[in-house]
Amino acid sequence: MSNCIIFTIPGNEVLANSLIKLLHADPGDAIIRHFPDGETYVKVNSNVHEKEAIIICSLHQPDDKILSLYFLAQTLKEFGAFPVTLVVPYLAYMRQDKRFTDGECISSDLFARLLSSFVDKLITIDPHLHRRISLNEIYSIHTSVLHVSHQLSKWIKENIQQPLLIGPDSESEQWVSKVAADANVPYIILEKIRKGDRNVKVSVPQVEKYKEYTPVLVDDIISTANTMIETIGHLKKAGMKPPVCIGIHAVFAAKAYDKLIKAGAEKVITCNTITHPSNAIYIDELLGQEICKNSFVVD
Ligand code: R5P
Repeated sequence: MSNCIIFTIPGNEVLANSLIKLLHADPGDAIIRHFPDGETYVKVNSNVHEKEAIIICSLHQPDDKILSLYFLAQTLKEFGAFPVTLVVPYLAYMRQDKRFTDGECISSDLFARLLSSFVDKLITIDPHLHRRISLNEIYSIHTSVLHVSHQLSKWIKENIQQPLLIGPDSESEQWVSKVAADANVPYIILEKIRKGDRNVKVSVPQVEKYKEYTPVLVDDIISTANTMIETIGHLKKAGMKPPVCIGIHAVFAAKAYDKLIKAGAEKVITCNTITHPSNAIYIDELLGQEICKNSFVVD
């Protein structure tokens, strides 16, 4: 018997169904659709009174989802659900964490304030924490941050012979070093200068002593893929083998995935925090365990 009910924002059905099965939870019945004029319609059919409502919503392309999420969460609260927990495997709006130029909005802070105003708890995976150490600096609700370093190192150990892990920038050292230690393999960290949304310069990797290794680029987010494409260019010039590219979050703007393959990636592997054909590392159990641990209602 469970007092937990799992709702899905459209696009998250695969993960939501897997969690419903894993947790033996009840699926929430809600209609989320758009009126002909584009406005969002939400209707909750399930009885949620005094139940924990869990909403599964990865926030890739967040602007398309945020109103559905807001309307659903608020409506669940109005019908007596408590707590309303957001399971957000990919948490958006984490990269604009300062004013890089005068006048810019610090969207990571404002987005955190917005989400904190309408959900009670949040569970996410490897959010892009760079200048901030913890989500608590910007979120006023209870947050749980899960890490996939163990899942990444397991996949690397099982699938790659003699890997050399390469992190594209100083921020990546936090997870690349953990993955490397866990897999007991060497790693190097490059330096990156971002000159614009699509314009990055990555330092030339010093790989002379690793010629026999398989390079494995590891980053948290692959968006335009230009960070990885630039690094692949350097590796080619250095005569290295084609690299395996691993990203935690398969954001892939426009044709980024195709461009990355065309640039010479041997393989592109991601976690299923965002549904994508490159998904090969699964986070369902990690999320399931955390939901159980955090919930006072799931049995
Ligand atoms: C930012 O610092 C992140 O860790 C990634 O390196 C970045 O988002 C990758 O972006 P792109 O794929 O657009 O180069």
